[in-house]
Amino acid sequence: MNKLITVGAAVLVSVSAAYAEVPAYLDRTKPIEERVEDALSRLTLKEKVALCHAQSKFSSAGVPRLGIPELWWSDGPHGVRAEINWNDWGYANWTNDSVTAFPALTALAATWNPELSALYGKNVGEEARYREKDVLLGPGVNIYRTPLNGRNFEYMGEDPYLAGEMVVPYIQELQKNGVAASVKHFALNNQEKWRGNIDVEVSDRALYEIYLPAFKRAVVDGKAWTIMGAYNKYNGQHCCHNSRLLNDILRGEWGFDGVVVTDWGGAHDTREAALNGLDVEMGSFTNGLTADAGSSYDEYYLGRPFRELVASGEVPMEVLDAKARNILRLIFRTAMNTDKPFGSLATPEHYAAAKAIGDESIVLLKNDGLLPLRADAGKRILVVGENAVKMLNKGGGSSELKVKDMKSPLEALRAAFGEANVTYAQGYESGPSIYGFQIPIPANVSDSLFADAVSKAKESDIIIYIGGLNKNGFQDCESSDRAGYNLPFGQDSLIEALADINPNIIVANISGNAYAMPWIKKVPAIIQSWYLGTMIGPSMADVITGKINPSGKLPFSFPYRLEDNSAHASGELSYPGIERDPQPADEKNPFAGHMGNKPEQRYDDDILVGYRWHDTKKIPAMFAFGHGLSYTDFKYGKATASAKEFASDGSITVTVPVTNIGTTEGKETVQLYISDEKSSLPRPLKELKAFRKVSIAPGETKEVSFKVSADDLKFFDDKAHEWVAEPGKFKALIGSSSADIRATVPFSYK
Ligand code: BGC
Repeated sequence: MNKLITVGAAVLVSVSAAYAEVPAYLDRTKPIEERVEDALSRLTLKEKVALCHAQSKFSSAGVPRLGIPELWWSDGPHGVRAEINWNDWGYANWTNDSVTAFPALTALAATWNPELSALYGKNVGEEARYREKDVLLGPGVNIYRTPLNGRNFEYMGEDPYLAGEMVVPYIQELQKNGVAASVKHFALNNQEKWRGNIDVEVSDRALYEIYLPAFKRAVVDGKAWTIMGAYNKYNGQHCCHNSRLLNDILRGEWGFDGVVVTDWGGAHDTREAALNGLDVEMGSFTNGLTADAGSSYDEYYLGRPFRELVASGEVPMEVLDAKARNILRLIFRTAMNTDKPFGSLATPEHYAAAKAIGDESIVLLKNDGLLPLRADAGKRILVVGENAVKMLNKGGGSSELKVKDMKSPLEALRAAFGEANVTYAQGYESGPSIYGFQIPIPANVSDSLFADAVSKAKESDIIIYIGGLNKNGFQDCESSDRAGYNLPFGQDSLIEALADINPNIIVANISGNAYAMPWIKKVPAIIQSWYLGTMIGPSMADVITGKINPSGKLPFSFPYRLEDNSAHASGELSYPGIERDPQPADEKNPFAGHMGNKPEQRYDDDILVGYRWHDTKKIPAMFAFGHGLSYTDFKYGKATASAKEFASDGSITVTVPVTNIGTTEGKETVQLYISDEKSSLPRPLKELKAFRKVSIAPGETKEVSFKVSADDLKFFDDKAHEWVAEPGKFKALIGSSSADIRATVPFSYK
């Protein structure tokens, strides 16, 4: 300014002209690709490389010299995680980072309602935006293969079609906030045991038909801006720099134009990271604030070692440019997006959204008439179980949340039935939620909690049991798998003892996984609830009292026994895999299970995962995929098809009338499965191809229609590497669950 005043009018003109010339990368009127190219052309080698790795635990650099902002990444996926320290995993103890805990993704999948998925994405996106995050690390769509996987609660169940339908609206609405989704963990991260190193062998058919479709939908239809690589290996290469997954499939076949980020610490090699499609490396090691050689952020695989490979010409500049381009594009879409809203945090609207999702997610598994439980005066209700009060937002690993509010089931049941009518007994003790650990509970503590519950049961008219799993290590928790299929902490004997004393018992368990129910015959009413976050109490109480008519359907099968599940039916190599170089366990390292010693695994169940296995092998599930009762009854009429056959460019419409024959309004999810009568390659007995959730008033009939086209008949021909629909006879099977088919329509494809 001083200069302008002193040097006179001529200079003033030329300087202001220079000011008026906005560089193309800052010009909002220009297309994003032009801005990206312009920005790229201004960067030095060092600046480009700096974009490609962390600068703190949860941020990566921008270009300060050019005013290009850094990126802030945050877990994900059920809410925005509390602030983490710059340089280590500790919490920063801020006071403005308490959020809404939204229901876990298993719960979202159990709603079978894509509109709620859109609501979820919108609301969690507003919170991420308010917290000034650019990328939310989620949602996760790894397929539920075994009920022992410690992270199933973060995923959307066992069926690729259901997961794909549910993930797309979440991403679309989230990203409207200028916050990128980071769909994870790509791919085949279907267990936690040895996740850092396990080498998964899987057929192309299973890869394309089961494990990839939800990721593909997220990329192609959801247009996710980032994808997180998985920790494990596939084809002998870590997934975060896996040539086939990232170069061939993600970018080559699906045309992904976003950023591939590692899972935190998922990079292992500079050359592979450079050449195999990785863009941003996060979480490799810490201590970046000191100059300790070998451990600063610049020493990441995509830091100095990468820069040197490019400088020496061993890795072409185009490789680095491609990464920088992807990252700049992400910055323009998020941090530099000037049209994005401001967001909001823990609002009544967000709580209402969490409640609406929770309400529709709870699954009524069994009901011999005990439910709904009306709030009659004078009934002595005993609530038993730690999950009636436990803060289930804590623990579980990276998805843990610091909540502003958490309304417990006990609190909500007391509000519904009256303080004086509800007694509580904890019944069992699980200990603190510590990642990777299970602290043993002393026998005298367990015994006295058990005795207290049993003695209170004698004084009760009705028992509501609220237990299940929790977010402790070796439960529903990252970094380890469950130790067994049964409920932990002596809950099976506790439920049995309570049911023997008082058969008026409702079991309302919370988990993200299936578990054994040896007590099933003794318990007249069973509810499956999930980690529902802030509004868990009100949602559960409203379903128990009948204020909300349950309408959730299982997103995964509940086998009777672990051996009935596909992954466990074929021996150790199928689950958990085999360590090829076993070493004695190191007790000092709680995360030893993360890497294992050269673990390998082969998915021998191939395409027969979940209900595909139960159906095809004729092994009935205790509760089938898609199962969920209501307080009303639905009658399915005769299904009809608009034509008996169709060709590759055509389609038919299959319609079924569904009537509410009860006295309460209810929602039913009508499911369409397709069965191929004969095919050149083996296929599952049937596969989910469409579903629709409809609300039906008592006495009302709704016609539910589904369009069936060639795409719904296809399988993946691995030899030809293409999706094929073979001419022949098919059946459209319409049901209330995968095991409860109510109407069948045969048709042909020519
Ligand atoms: C998890 C990711 C998570 C990341 C950052 C990893 O351990 O596997 O899902 O987003 O940490 O917290």
